[in-house]
Amino acid sequence: MNATSDNLHQVAIPEPFTLVVFGASGDLAHRKLIPSVFKLWCDGLLPEQVAVIGYARSEKSQQQFIDELRESAGNAFADQGVDFPQNKWKKFAARVSYHQGGYNIAADFESLRDSIKSQAAAASVAANCVFYLATPPDAFVPIVQQLYACGLSRRGETNPWSRIVIEKPFGRDLQTAQTLNAQLGECFSENQIFRIDHYLGKETVQNIMVLRFGNSIFEHLWSHDNIDHVQITVAESLDVGRRGKYYDNAGALRDIVQNHMMHLLSLIAMEPPVTLTPDAVRNEKVKVLKALRPIPPVCAKNGVVRGQYTAGTIGGVKISGYRETENVRPKSGTETFVAFKVYLDNWRWAGVPFYLRTGKCLQRRCTEISVHFKRIPDVLFNLPPYGPLPQNVLSIRVQPDEGITLEFQAKVPGAVMKIEPLKMKFDYKSSFGASPPDAYERLLLDAALGDATLFTRSDEVEAAWRFVAPVIEHCSQDCCSMISEYQPGTWGPAAADELIQADGRQWYLG
Ligand SMILES: NC(=O)c1ccc[n+]([C@@H]2O[C@H](COP(=O)([O-])OP(=O)(O)OC[C@H]3O[C@@H](n4cnc5c(N)ncnc54)[C@H](OP(=O)(O)O)[C@@H]3O)[C@@H](O)[C@H]2O)c1
Repeated sequence: MNATSDNLHQVAIPEPFTLVVFGASGDLAHRKLIPSVFKLWCDGLLPEQVAVIGYARSEKSQQQFIDELRESAGNAFADQGVDFPQNKWKKFAARVSYHQGGYNIAADFESLRDSIKSQAAAASVAANCVFYLATPPDAFVPIVQQLYACGLSRRGETNPWSRIVIEKPFGRDLQTAQTLNAQLGECFSENQIFRIDHYLGKETVQNIMVLRFGNSIFEHLWSHDNIDHVQITVAESLDVGRRGKYYDNAGALRDIVQNHMMHLLSLIAMEPPVTLTPDAVRNEKVKVLKALRPIPPVCAKNGVVRGQYTAGTIGGVKISGYRETENVRPKSGTETFVAFKVYLDNWRWAGVPFYLRTGKCLQRRCTEISVHFKRIPDVLFNLPPYGPLPQNVLSIRVQPDEGITLEFQAKVPGAVMKIEPLKMKFDYKSSFGASPPDAYERLLLDAALGDATLFTRSDEVEAAWRFVAPVIEHCSQDCCSMISEYQPGTWGPAAADELIQADGRQWYLG
């Protein structure tokens, strides 16, 4: 059955504002941010008077900047299979400007402030601002301090609100995350700080709450009474590519587990929030992270599977081994794959294992959460000759082909009683007639509206580090000898299979 738009809610449009993108010459700004802002503007979801200022150190003319953006926006629209609206682009491009400046140079920020204010005054609108920090993390603190010093972080008569959106990685351990939170807090208040993790902008991730709390059929089953275990897989088919320098200092635990996987885990395991306000939702997510049972040092060494891909091929394409990648140390102990089991020490999830795995160069790109329900009792159909029957599984595909699948048993038509598992599938494309919008569109719109529900709060980021950082620390002692190799195009090292098989279970993808 197709969904209709009858019950779509009216979408709020933000007040006029200026979006300043720091690091505007970079990959994220070109590939995601500007195309998303343009798409929102074309869809009428941003005010007509929105102004966009690209800020970076690179020398380039206004025209060169616009031409580069036109090309990258064209590519982004083509990737989404959407025709590029050239006539609208011309109007939009007139609202975009380039500001060359250093990230720690007061005079450059003062001239930025003056441009923001004069543009807003010319359009007869307030100088509201969203500052998007799309630079490597080294530049976060200098930018924020300069914004504060030139008065752009404060509320005033002509700038009623200003917010910062800050990219990941947010720190590299608990201490650096706490320091960064404190430094940001000296210049902006918490309700002005939007820590982004684009996973939270994905429709399927937002749909986890709707699935759980917008239906009556799942929630009363959602506990240790009925759930056997939960799996979360975040698999990438790509190798590290040109990101060797960044990745070799991060690894899968920092790059994926600390942020994306902790968000997925907390949404799948949280209690129903009292309301849908940002703090009510985030309070519940933090409680999940606080309930994570720490992985003791001996288990981190023996129970956490860490892997590194070797040279090989994926789909006929030759892949160099991780340690042969440009800017990766030849004896690197950084993991490109990790798998482990974790428990939540709270009433709802007592005794239920959560198995997490993520890696690069795996067989295919997919992010999926699967909830495995307990087996039926060993009577009737769960006995030979019909059983034992597989468990019911509810799987939520975050990417690609966003959707939800429920696996259940059914009788095969015919004179004999034969039972087979069936999959009932919902996918966004066939139900709603279109693929979901890019996550950055939703998140940019929310930041402009001041809705922080899908952004990470300071205590949330620290709670995630409190769990992940000790695992990284324990694993990094004697790291090289404890790392297993795996072939590109597989599902990681054999040890990952052994980890779950030791509990009588198998990795699952719906
Ligand atoms: N790209 C993605 O898909 C993606 C996804 C998730 C998160 N992120 C995060 O988003 C941020 C931006 O990513 P990106 O891929 O766009 O990065 P990028 O291309 O490496 O850098 C963006 C811009 O920042 C400036 N820059 C580079 N190195 C710098 C340094 N050491 N100090 C100060 N400025 C520097 C450069 O501009 P100028 O030299 O012209 O100033 C560069 O064009 C990063 O924090 C990244 O982790 C990116």
